Amino acid sequence: MDSKDQASAMLSPNMIVPRGVKETGSIFEWYSQMRGQAPVHYDEERRSWDVFLYDDVHRVMSDYKSFSSQTRRGMSGQDSDMLLMMDPPKHKKYRSIVNKAFTPKAVEAMGPRIAEITHKLLDRVDSDAGMDIIRDLSFPLPMIVIAELLGVREEDRELFKGWSDTLVEGFSGMEETPQQLAARKNQASRELYGYFMKVIERRQEPQQDLVSALLTAEVEGEKLDLPHLLSFCLLLLVAGNETTTNLIGNTIICLTEEPGRWRQLVDNPGLLDQAIEESLRYRSPIQGMVRKAIADVELGGQMIRKDQLITAWMGSANRDEYKFEQAGQFRIDRHPNPHMAFGMGVHFCLGAPLARLEARTALNVLLDRFPNLYTQQGQSLRLLPSPMVYGVQQLPVRF
Ligand code: HEM
Repeated sequence: MDSKDQASAMLSPNMIVPRGVKETGSIFEWYSQMRGQAPVHYDEERRSWDVFLYDDVHRVMSDYKSFSSQTRRGMSGQDSDMLLMMDPPKHKKYRSIVNKAFTPKAVEAMGPRIAEITHKLLDRVDSDAGMDIIRDLSFPLPMIVIAELLGVREEDRELFKGWSDTLVEGFSGMEETPQQLAARKNQASRELYGYFMKVIERRQEPQQDLVSALLTAEVEGEKLDLPHLLSFCLLLLVAGNETTTNLIGNTIICLTEEPGRWRQLVDNPGLLDQAIEESLRYRSPIQGMVRKAIADVELGGQMIRKDQLITAWMGSANRDEYKFEQAGQFRIDRHPNPHMAFGMGVHFCLGAPLARLEARTALNVLLDRFPNLYTQQGQSLRLLPSPMVYGVQQLPVRF
């Protein structure tokens, strides 16, 4: 194995850019080719099957008896403590416990506070010079919201932000090796665990926050033990921050790339929820998820062998012409819109109501304060390096 192969073997298929994306220059172009030519395809380089059609992606995401979420094991070969990587029946037990704490009511109650944080962030912006949506709003907002939900003290926020940034950093191949990145991530999660341990100790007297609710939530007499509680707190950061940043950024791109769309929403704010759903479909913040075959299984005329990895490309399913009319176009009032941006089946995103609320609130405030917001037409936006997430690094706007 040469050093590049070793690096590819260490990285999961979700970190390596598929050759087809590099060749076509666009992930959506690649999807379109693959849906037509090889909708279930094995990629030797990434050692993963790729699945592109809506119905096949739906099956891979939801048929947990054939496709396991336990794609990786811990250092000593044990099952992961992370909800996202558990299979039923273990998954059902833990999901029921966290569902009790992460209720729609608790999320809805965050609405006014999310609006307040959004206003504060925008107050800092110099409206003559415009702003970078990512740096000034969509990056800090979800981080502050989750920090507050978890009971992180204001004075610790910078520390918390540092750990959370490191955890979601993708491998760019530029400044360091995959091993160095993995080591930094391990260090950040160790420090974060240490910090959460202290937060949990402080909660021996329950307070009005998610950690207190998680400590008391129980199902059939069982509560979360400490390792599961810590893993869950970490998962909220990893799963919820960058995704929501990209949802807000991508929605603003969708609403400003065609002249007149932003105005249409200013005049008709009732369309906002549909516009956000359409942005989730058209520019899905998570493009794909990985599963592992539990036994040999046939899919789309191909035989997937036990233990092989499968990447289910939701970003492609969401643009499948057999499922969505004019799939390649952003239609602000699309209805119905059965996109799979939040996944499908037992692992359906636990944070979807919070992500939708944050996006709706941030956009409502922006529409209200900046009815003439626009992006420079023709400016080239740099995409994030990982093929599995879709978002831009900066998004300059003017008012
Ligand atoms: C636009 C924003 C978001 C997107 C696109 C998104 C997407 C997803 C997807 C696709 C899954 C399913 C993974 C799978 O099937 O393996 C998932 C699961 C999950 N998400 Fe989100 N997510 C978002 C925001 C959030 C937020 C804000 C939180 C919490 C603060 C969150 C917490 C979770 C958790 C805990 C799971 C695991 C659920 C389980 O395994 O049962 N997500 N998310």
